[in-house]
Amino acid sequence: MNGSTEREELLAAHFDAFHTARAGSGFVSALYAEAMGDAYPADVAPYSSCDRQLLETAAARLQLRPGEDLADVGCGTGGVGLWLARELRARLTGLDISPAAVRIAAARAAGFVPAARAVFLTGTLEATGLRDGVVDGVVCVDALANASDRVQALAEFGRVLRPGGRAVMTRAGASGLRQTVTEQAYAAGLELEFVDERPGEPAMWGRLYRLWQARAVDLRRELGDVQADGMLREAERMLPRLAGREALVVTLRKPGGGG
Ligand SMILES: C[S@@+](CC[C@H](N)C(=O)[O-])C[C@H]1O[C@@H](n2cnc3c(N)ncnc32)[C@H](O)[C@@H]1O
Repeated sequence: MNGSTEREELLAAHFDAFHTARAGSGFVSALYAEAMGDAYPADVAPYSSCDRQLLETAAARLQLRPGEDLADVGCGTGGVGLWLARELRARLTGLDISPAAVRIAAARAAGFVPAARAVFLTGTLEATGLRDGVVDGVVCVDALANASDRVQALAEFGRVLRPGGRAVMTRAGASGLRQTVTEQAYAAGLELEFVDERPGEPAMWGRLYRLWQARAVDLRRELGDVQADGMLREAERMLPRLAGREALVVTLRKPGGGG
């Protein structure tokens, strides 16, 4: 990306390695499927907490009409936005900091929607590269925590939305999350429209992290030591924090437009 900061270049390299390693093996997806059980959306194959219920909630909260424009920011390998584009008959622009993720997502698009209805580009949460007011909805699943400045990222969602458009995103954290979410929405000039709880999200991560630990030898064989070590460090860091974790789907609306 032109004009990237050093932090963005490091993030892009980190996520390129993450997506390239996972794409070469179905093993990580199989562990997500085991942790989510019947809630696992196999066609989406997310590397996130995205389950069937989250997809249904996002589809309902976006309130898109057929033919409208959706941006999936932090789209990863594209499944979430592609599922929503197919379900809502929307046009999709998927954006991710990782060129590898964007390439993989683009190669998956034809399995969901006609070619003219989906495009994948590199871009960041804080600077998508989209023009002002060009989308009717934004979806952002398990990516906002990577923003250098979350209010700036939310303001960017607001900039690219048409008046009345909605941004639907996952948020998670310790107690006080609702207050933070409310303050950040206000600071970004967006209205807080809905907050949906995800009571099963922390337990899903608990099951997944324990699977990573239990299958550490297989993780090393499938992904190599660097990726496996990163996942095992994440599991060790996050497992003790899950008890106090709250997880939400937050819907923000850009003021103006119709109802
Ligand atoms: C946990 S993955 C989730 C991917 C996808 N949303 C899903 O649910 O499968 C987070 C994604 O955010 C992307 N990402 C991280 N920091 C970003 C940034 N600053 N701007 C854009 N994308 C970013 C990563 O490359 C990665 O694909």
